[in-house]
Amino acid sequence: LFKNVTKLPNDALFAIKARLDVDTRPNKVGLGIGAYRDNNGKPWILPSVRKAEKIIQSDPEYNHEYSNISGLDALRKHAARILFGDSFDCAKRVVNVQSLSGTGALHVSAKLLQSLGLNNRDVYFSDPTWNNHYQIFGKCDFKASKTYPYWNPANKQLDLQGFLTTIASAEEGSLFVLHPCAHNPTGLDPTEEQWTQILNAIKQKNHLVLFDSAYQGFATGSLSKDAYSIRLAINDILKDYPVLVCQSFAKNVGMYGERVGCVHLVLPESGYTKEDQDALQSQLNAVIRSECSTTPAYGAKIVATILSNDDLYKQWSEDMITMSSRIIEMRHKLVAKLKELNTPGNWDHIATQVGMFSYTGLTVEQVERMEKEHAVYLAPSGRASIAGLNDGNVEHVAKAIDEVVRF
Ligand code: LMR
Repeated sequence: LFKNVTKLPNDALFAIKARLDVDTRPNKVGLGIGAYRDNNGKPWILPSVRKAEKIIQSDPEYNHEYSNISGLDALRKHAARILFGDSFDCAKRVVNVQSLSGTGALHVSAKLLQSLGLNNRDVYFSDPTWNNHYQIFGKCDFKASKTYPYWNPANKQLDLQGFLTTIASAEEGSLFVLHPCAHNPTGLDPTEEQWTQILNAIKQKNHLVLFDSAYQGFATGSLSKDAYSIRLAINDILKDYPVLVCQSFAKNVGMYGERVGCVHLVLPESGYTKEDQDALQSQLNAVIRSECSTTPAYGAKIVATILSNDDLYKQWSEDMITMSSRIIEMRHKLVAKLKELNTPGNWDHIATQVGMFSYTGLTVEQVERMEKEHAVYLAPSGRASIAGLNDGNVEHVAKAIDEVVRF
């Protein structure tokens, strides 16, 4: 037993973080893992989070009791509201549970589909996608993991035609995992018109959609704008179809380690009874109970307090603008520096991409040199977490890019 076990490779993103942490070079820059840093390169506790913690801890009823199996009710209710909008009839159409952030939400979704025998289908991810998608769905015995074209390296645009062709040729009823905004890793989102085409094509083939919403608020700074594709699906194009939505609060509330998220199953506008909802809720609860019994309460209380308190919600909206606008500013500063240096190639895509990441176009070899020779850490795909840039390091990063591209 336990002999000759295959040693698996380290997780690429966490391995970058481990190397960065032990690097003693004073000019090191972390653009690997997607975590927001302030202009001093430090983790940022959002002012809305600090205020929420004070409120929670000054409550005479404050304790560390178990949560419910389905999670904190206030979190589930308000989490659904910010995704689907104030006027959406969540009571009629949404069944949800709290999850261990976005990864847990994806895992619970995959497990739910597996336990209902609905994993007998192919699952499609964007090419490229967040690598963990493959591991999560791979563990739940889907028929096969496949990709749909997304990033066209030749023009650094969406390969819409390839995407639509794959939707049309996929076996009817396949599962399509979509990034609703701030696509990870490319930072490239479909336009509103392209979303209409994508969702209509999906509807034609009765595919099942799962939105992985990990960056709401990070693309535009506006929760409703960043939920555009989700709302288009559930209110309009896919209103007669079930839709899964996985939601993370790691990035937009800056609580990476607290693991707060939800998974929502949005039901079709008609045809589902209260009994159907109760049955689905029981299935989701059974997944949670067997996996982690109940989900962590502390981070959930923080997020629920922010979402349900008008002053804190306003503060949080400002916090998201602080984060998204600093990232946008850094995109422009990096491109400006590269232009100043006359770095070969066109770098405008870094400024036009959205969210936390830029798919820089640097090759694996160039990324290796960035790390080895310049102490600048990126993902091997050339993905840079722009949130790691600041006024103190953007010039160093531009010079490093210039050098590895030029020589
Ligand atoms: C990332 O893509 O860097 C983040 O989502 C962190 C992670 O868990 O991979």
